[in-house]
Amino acid sequence: MMQLEWESLKERLQSFCQDQLLAHLQSLSDPDRIRLQEEISAIDFDELRRTIEGQGQSVDWHALASRAMPPDAIRLNESASVQRAAYDAGEKAIRDGKVAMILVAGGQGTRLGFDKPKGMFRIGPVSHRSLFAMHADSLRGAMKKFGVSIPLLIMTSPATDAETREYFESHHWLGLSKDHVTIFQQGTMPAVDRETGAVLLESPGRIAMSPDGHGGIVKALRTHGILDACRAEGIEYFFYAQVDNPLVTACDPTLLGHHILAGSQMTTQVVQKRFATEKVGNVVSIDGKTQIIEYSDLPSELAEQTNEDGSLRLWAGNIAVHVMDRTFLERCSQDPDSLPIHLANKAVPYLDPSGQIVRPTSPNAIKLERFVFDLLPRASRAIVVEGDAKDVFAPVKNADGAPTDTPASAKQAISDRAKRWLAEAGVECTPECLVEIHPMWAWDADDVKSKIQSQGTIHSDTYFA
Ligand code: UTP
Repeated sequence: MMQLEWESLKERLQSFCQDQLLAHLQSLSDPDRIRLQEEISAIDFDELRRTIEGQGQSVDWHALASRAMPPDAIRLNESASVQRAAYDAGEKAIRDGKVAMILVAGGQGTRLGFDKPKGMFRIGPVSHRSLFAMHADSLRGAMKKFGVSIPLLIMTSPATDAETREYFESHHWLGLSKDHVTIFQQGTMPAVDRETGAVLLESPGRIAMSPDGHGGIVKALRTHGILDACRAEGIEYFFYAQVDNPLVTACDPTLLGHHILAGSQMTTQVVQKRFATEKVGNVVSIDGKTQIIEYSDLPSELAEQTNEDGSLRLWAGNIAVHVMDRTFLERCSQDPDSLPIHLANKAVPYLDPSGQIVRPTSPNAIKLERFVFDLLPRASRAIVVEGDAKDVFAPVKNADGAPTDTPASAKQAISDRAKRWLAEAGVECTPECLVEIHPMWAWDADDVKSKIQSQGTIHSDTYFA
């Protein structure tokens, strides 16, 4: 880069009080300078400033939440015939090749404290299969049951991409066909000092970037041409799940079918909150639009409101399993940057002015993220379908020892569901043993019934595969 251009870049950065980014310029090689310049050019400092400054003008959640109504929902106690009709509609869409699965796996998994992509974490209680393998096997089970190939779209980030690709390649694509797996990277956003708003450097020539949140899927699907490819393939619906929930049934036909039959553009699976202030997003309807209020933004007196029978009025907890129309995502992806940016306080390592790396243990920085559920109010119709938490939700968020959402609790939930399916088929299991069912052996409770030949009791850890 010419001297003159550096001068004008420096002036531009100075006007935003961001010229600290050039503090180590002299020590950089030519290629590193060029890369830094590219990284700087990709940042819209004006928008960044507006976003950070806007955090002070927070939404009046109390006013908003006081208008919150329970969402338009299909509850668990819906009649068997309605559930059956949904299953049939979902099954037909899958068999017709209209469904693809999206797995978001770009998060940095900081709470779990695992130094690889979270998808590689071993969670099978008996098999020790990884989270990636659990999802791949569930998808293979669906393909076997419905006699069709289902594309798998995995969103990674710079933090997880290389190891994820290597993992799939070295594990023979986890039994899937390589041609049906697409791994693509989400975008990134710079981390800024929470006191000064200065963009942080992670090394002399590199800005501290972090993944742009699961809402980055909207932009990433478009940037990588995946929406176009899906349209060409005849995909009409995306089944969306997070890598850290091993109880997800890939492409759950009932959920898909409710989405299709209701003419919904975006459908969310929810679970009944266990208590008023449980730390899950609250799915509500405000002024006729389905949307999510984070637990931290829902005033407790509103969270605690009950119906006449004592049940919670705002009952629906988000578990981040969604079905989205391709055409809806195409529309939203015309302007992916219009999804709001959320700010999170995090501990982010950075290079100080003297060139030393600092590794803070408490939050020093703001990370910027977009959330996929902010798409909900944009849908002309968005419905909510209740699932039973013990069948559909076992998030792996925290390291063992934490009170909730740990590997230990997820392993227990996987085993407990397998035991319930076996019990329905007349097989009992002693409480101490762990049980696991491979989806290619039995994909659902009905499959288990047709597989079990003789009834009895299981006393030791068992893997049906
Ligand atoms: P979380 O918000 O729980 O974040 O992601 P995380 O990275 O798994 O964990 P922490 O907060 O750092 O401990 C929920 C899901 O969204 C994906 C994650 O991979 C996970 O499946 N995600 C999150 C992305 O794909 N990209 C992101 O930028 C953030």
